[in-house]
Amino acid sequence: IMNEHSDLVLEYKHLDETSSTNDFLRNYTPSADISIVSASFQTKGRGQMGNTWISHEGQNAQFSVLGCPKSQKASDGFVLSQAMALAIKETLEEYVDDVWIKWPNDIYCHGKKICGTLIENTLMGKFVGRSVIGNGINVNQTDFPDGLAAPPTSICIQFGKECSTHEIIHHVVERFALYYREIMDASYERIRTLYHENMYLRGKKSLFQDSEGMFTGVISHVETDGHLVIIDEQSQSRRYAFKQVQFIREDKD
Ligand code: BTN
Repeated sequence: IMNEHSDLVLEYKHLDETSSTNDFLRNYTPSADISIVSASFQTKGRGQMGNTWISHEGQNAQFSVLGCPKSQKASDGFVLSQAMALAIKETLEEYVDDVWIKWPNDIYCHGKKICGTLIENTLMGKFVGRSVIGNGINVNQTDFPDGLAAPPTSICIQFGKECSTHEIIHHVVERFALYYREIMDASYERIRTLYHENMYLRGKKSLFQDSEGMFTGVISHVETDGHLVIIDEQSQSRRYAFKQVQFIREDKD
C-alpha cells in the first residue's frame, strides 16, 4: 500500500501467532520501504533488558516495524526511536489525554505505562543498516499481573471503551511514515523538538535514582545519541545512558 502522505511504500502483515514480531522481522526480506507485522499472540514476546512481554491474546496492539535506513548514521539512530514515540503518542491522544513520552521510548498516560518499545538495530559500520522497532500498546486489556516494574494502564481503562487494535496500528504507522520520510531526508530537527516538547516530567523537579542513590533534579534534554541529561540541585549536569537512571516521582513540594 502506498502511504497517502509520503512517497513511501508500506507493507502490512498480520499473524495470529508468532514467537515475537521483532524476531519475525529480524531476517525478513522487505518488499517495501517500511514493513509492518502485527500479531494477536506472541509466544516469546520480549521487553527491554531481557524482560518478557506478556499480553492477553488479541487484546493489545503488538507490532513491529522494519526500516532499512542505510545512510542513517548510527550516532543519529535515536531519532528513529523519537519518531516512533511521537507517532504512538499522537495516536493515543485520539483516545485519551495526559499522554507523555517517558525517556527513552515508553509512553505514559496519567502517570502509568501504556506502551513499551523494543528497538533492535543491525548496524552496518557507522550506519543503521536495519531497524526493527517493536511496540506493545495496551489497548483492551484491563487486568494486569501484579508486580510489573511500572504500573500499567490501557486505552480501555482510560477511555472506558474497547477499540480496534488494527485501527490503532494503522494510525501509528501512517504517522511514523511521515516522520520516517523526514529522517530519510536527514531532517531531524522537527522530530527532536517535538520529542522534547512531549517528554514526561521534563522541566519538573523530580526524584531520580542512579548507581549512587537518590537525588533531586530536573530533566534538561536528550542528546542526539539518546543520552538523558538531568540537572541536579547543585546545578551539575548528569548524563545517562538507557537504564542508568530511574525516575522515582515528581517532587511537588
Ligand atoms: C518494554 O517496555 O519492555 C518493551 C516491550 C516491547 C513489546 C513489543 S510487542 C511487539 C514486539 N515484539 C516483541 O517481542 N516485543 C515488542
